Amino acid sequence: MANILIGVSGGIACYKIPSLCRLFKKEGHDVKVILTDNASKFVTPLTFESVTGNRAYTGEFDPGLDPEIIEHIELAGWADKFIIAPATANTVAKAAQGIADNLLASTLLVYTKPAYFVPAMNTNMFNHPATQNNLRILAERGNILIEPDSGELACGTSGKGRMKEPEELFRLIEGERPLAGLRVLVTAGATVEPIDPVRYISNYSSGKMGLAVALKARELGAEVKIIAGSISADCSGFDTVRVKSAEDMLNAVKENIGSCDILIKAAAVADYAPVEAALQKIKKSEGELVIRLKKNPDILKEIAPLKKHSQVFCGFAAESENLNKNAIRKLNEKKLDMIVANDISRKDIGFGSDDNEADIFFADGSSEHFDKGSKKKLAELILIRAAGLLK
Ligand SMILES: Cc1cc2nc3c(=O)[nH]c(=O)nc-3n(C[C@H](O)[C@H](O)[C@H](O)COP(=O)(O)O)c2cc1C
Repeated sequence: MANILIGVSGGIACYKIPSLCRLFKKEGHDVKVILTDNASKFVTPLTFESVTGNRAYTGEFDPGLDPEIIEHIELAGWADKFIIAPATANTVAKAAQGIADNLLASTLLVYTKPAYFVPAMNTNMFNHPATQNNLRILAERGNILIEPDSGELACGTSGKGRMKEPEELFRLIEGERPLAGLRVLVTAGATVEPIDPVRYISNYSSGKMGLAVALKARELGAEVKIIAGSISADCSGFDTVRVKSAEDMLNAVKENIGSCDILIKAAAVADYAPVEAALQKIKKSEGELVIRLKKNPDILKEIAPLKKHSQVFCGFAAESENLNKNAIRKLNEKKLDMIVANDISRKDIGFGSDDNEADIFFADGSSEHFDKGSKKKLAELILIRAAGLLK
């Protein structure tokens, strides 16, 4: 059974958390609670002590604490799962910015595994760019966000911000993890092909799609590794191999391919690279500068012979014309199990955007359309379909 640490911050949804504690207790888990000072104005520490059978922690300097133990370090080490519920806008901001001015915030800085954040607040507070930015930072570090529902709020308004009911939270946190035990290798971002020590050829890929796949795969229980080229998204919470050129990416994929069940190749690999990278900066001169390009290795083609019967490989086709025809040709040529085709000529989806719209083509000739939606939703569909193809 697991050690469950629940961090309670000062929102109206505090009153639901004793029920959440009871659900974990009923399952046989050991539950401990840290309350912020503001949370303890909504529900007393005594309530949590009664339902958990453990001391409820409020501050590192509280009387009666064992002087031999440093609470934020002890609790972070103790917890198998750390759930921040409700997570106020204030506590979310502190966690995102690394502020450690109370026991809950300090413990979050010591905790090294992904934590669950359950934001609950007024709709305007939730939608505020500062809150959205802080939540994005937490997600990009690998934490798991459990989004609030829409509906009537305690503050009398209506909109997004209401915390899910304890039963649903419990089910989401304890629930089935369909990728548990699987190893997912994700390539993400753009490759960088040097012209000289200061210039390079690259592309507009932000790495957001690859990171969305990595985040979702971890949320669904998989062990995830990222091979990242140039990437603007933060993948620091993941086991990551950093590469620059297509050649480097090929070598890293070859090195890691043997130990994965599912390969999702979301990186945008340059098709061409300068024949030679100049050792010194190329000086400006009159007239044109001609850079001769050589074809880069086609990673998916090169690794096709290494593919084990038990593995599933998924490619991406970012095209600006003849999308479906090109995607199906790639699927067949590269002996993929599935390919995700998206139209990069559209401004509202693709490179740099948080959304995508795509068609997924499968080796058996079938296909599936994904209507415009978040890259995270598309990532979930890709992973569930890929896992379904495993033999
Ligand atoms: C009645 C009441 C209800 C509140 N509900 C929320 C809430 O649901 N979500 C939230 O982010 N803040 C809420 N606040 C504001 C927080 O309590 C406030 O931002 C506080 O600084 C949070 O501190 P903490 O994160 O350390 O617990 C509420 C305040 C009051 C007085």
